[in-house]
Amino acid sequence: MIKVAPSLLSADFTDLKKDIKLLESSEADMLHIDIMDGHFVPNITFGPDQVKQLRKVTDMYFDVHLMINEPEKYIEAFAEAGSNLITVHAEAAHHLQRLIHTIKSYGVAAGVSLNPATPLCMLDYVLDDVDLILIMSVNPGYGGQKFIPAMEDKIRQTKRMIGEREILLEVDGGINHQTAELAIHAGADILVAGSYTFHGDIRNNIKSLKEIK
Ligand code: DX5
Ligand code: ZN
Repeated sequence: MIKVAPSLLSADFTDLKKDIKLLESSEADMLHIDIMDGHFVPNITFGPDQVKQLRKVTDMYFDVHLMINEPEKYIEAFAEAGSNLITVHAEAAHHLQRLIHTIKSYGVAAGVSLNPATPLCMLDYVLDDVDLILIMSVNPGYGGQKFIPAMEDKIRQTKRMIGEREILLEVDGGINHQTAELAIHAGADILVAGSYTFHGDIRNNIKSLKEIK
């Protein structure tokens, strides 16, 4: 069954605890936390201190997506804040293989993400190191953007590249009921869903994605 990772970015920040409690009582598999620095992406969100505060109110699995430059400077802080998975962008890493192992050294799972225009071959030599590959189906920076159609084939090719390895394939950006179906059929294991989750009935929205075969 598909795993669903609601993105906190689209939650109600004036009543975050309420939304988190709703997610806990839903079929959500994890909480996707988008970290943006205003450099790697044009937007700014929050840092390790906020993740640490979130950790005090929930035991949900934290899927932390770092859209930041110089990610190596912040791995320790995000690991200690309570992340279960830290995903870095291949485009932001000078020494990707080392960075993956730094993440793992804190007992945290390591993911690598690729922007829509970045070729898959960036991952050729880290396939034996990563726990998860995150394919961006929009250019990162904002919630509520449209799924880029060419990403369907990229997801399919990523799945093929993973082969028998135990690497999870996550897709992030523009997921709604229709694009979720495309992504699942192309081989996605985890779908990030921000605006789709938090628009209307949160629990029903998550359930509708979980039911896709
Ligand atoms: C985009 C973020 C996403 C975002 C997805 O830069 O990485 O996780 O929250 O939002 P939707 O699902 O609305 O496209
Ligand atoms: Zn994300």
